[in-house]
Amino acid sequence: MIERCQEDARPRFGPRARTAVVLAAAALLAATSAAFLPGTASAGTTLGASAAEKGRYFGTAVAANKLSDSAYTTILNREFNSVTPENEMKIDATEPQQGRFSYGAADQIVSHARSRGMSVRGHTLAWHSQQPGWMQSMSGSALRQAMLNHVTQVATHFRGQVVAWDVVNEAFADGSSGARRDSNLQRTGNDWIEAAFRAADAADPNAKLCYNDYNTDNWTHAKTQAVYNMVRDFKSRGVPIDCVGFQSHFNNDSPYNSNYRTTLSSFAALGVDVQVTELDIQGAPANTYRAVVEDCLAVARCNGVTVWGIRDSDSWRASQTPLLFNNSGQKKAAYDAVLAALNNGTTPTDPPTTPPTTPPTNPPGGSCTATLQDGTRWGDRFNSTVTVSGASSWTVVVAVTSPQKISSTWNGSPTWDSSGNVMTMRSNGSGNSFGFTTMANGNWNRPVVQSCTAS
Ligand code: XIL
Repeated sequence: MIERCQEDARPRFGPRARTAVVLAAAALLAATSAAFLPGTASAGTTLGASAAEKGRYFGTAVAANKLSDSAYTTILNREFNSVTPENEMKIDATEPQQGRFSYGAADQIVSHARSRGMSVRGHTLAWHSQQPGWMQSMSGSALRQAMLNHVTQVATHFRGQVVAWDVVNEAFADGSSGARRDSNLQRTGNDWIEAAFRAADAADPNAKLCYNDYNTDNWTHAKTQAVYNMVRDFKSRGVPIDCVGFQSHFNNDSPYNSNYRTTLSSFAALGVDVQVTELDIQGAPANTYRAVVEDCLAVARCNGVTVWGIRDSDSWRASQTPLLFNNSGQKKAAYDAVLAALNNGTTPTDPPTTPPTTPPTNPPGGSCTATLQDGTRWGDRFNSTVTVSGASSWTVVVAVTSPQKISSTWNGSPTWDSSGNVMTMRSNGSGNSFGFTTMANGNWNRPVVQSCTAS
């Protein structure tokens, strides 16, 4: 049974989060000026304090093994009021052997941050990458179960300490397909993402739950639209999603585009917060850094910006010198531009309410979301129902595994490929769902939704 609700009334949104950020920032100010850098850290002179004045945070990725480097921690403690562990909360770090959890390095970062009034973004609970060996070799329902257990255990461990979780990371394919990325997690069934969000919500009801991805910054890109359609679908069906993270790793192959602000505001208009989660820009051009910060400040539901490291030498792409501080820890021109943007920015009071008009939300040829649910099962056959959101007129392609055969359908107009295993179902005015019966012929694999296209 799918729970349906239009509005998620839980209190983790906006005002409460905003208060938490401001309180955290106040604590940071008190801590830094009293104990660390008397007289030098005040609103308007550091990234974190200036962001806090605008109701935002300014964060960085942190590596546990650098917390013993005083040049590193001096900048961290002075400038930032939010922290994301760079690798320490990933699956291979937190569950290196199945059922054996390891939190030492992550706890160290959380403790460093929270004792100084910085908030923590958790990264990440479910991802195709940086999986431990045992998980890489799993599939099917065993993997689904292991993934959900991982989400539950890790979110429970950090409950109350993490303000936001990247619940699912990078689940969509690059390029023009708008499809999900193929991965062992995706092959457990298209509903793996919402299952992960529900498990995270049960384990930590107060953390904001984010979907996080890269190459989703340009509003016209298929990947951006695909994630947008998923979030719209999740909101319409009451899947507990609170925020979308835009990694924003900009470089010559994947440059910043001035429609970034449209992307942020369009997602926000769906009723989610937006966050810039892993910002770095090849060459660190001051103008581009300024533009990203201005774009976030222009969108009421943009909570904050996290850069993916402190000094260029800390970056995963060090050769691109993409960060705000050089290898010696000196502020670069981009730092000055970001600080100025934070200090000049206004705090918008008008959350966007009108849905975006470009591109149209249901353009013919655009994507929609089709979710398959299991129906009645008999000794020789089973039913499936497919529910479509994001388009009222649609074409959905579904495949069954030979020697399975679809024996009947309802609420749609089907056509078949030559093998008879791939069905193209078109809406026929009977609503937003259709169903079909599959003769198992000994194979009980779930049918797979291959695509959904608005028509
Ligand atoms: C990167 C880390 O920065 C590296 O240290 C690690 O070797 C690989 O992962 N998208 C993400 C981040 O979500 O977790 C990645 O971090 C960068 C891309």
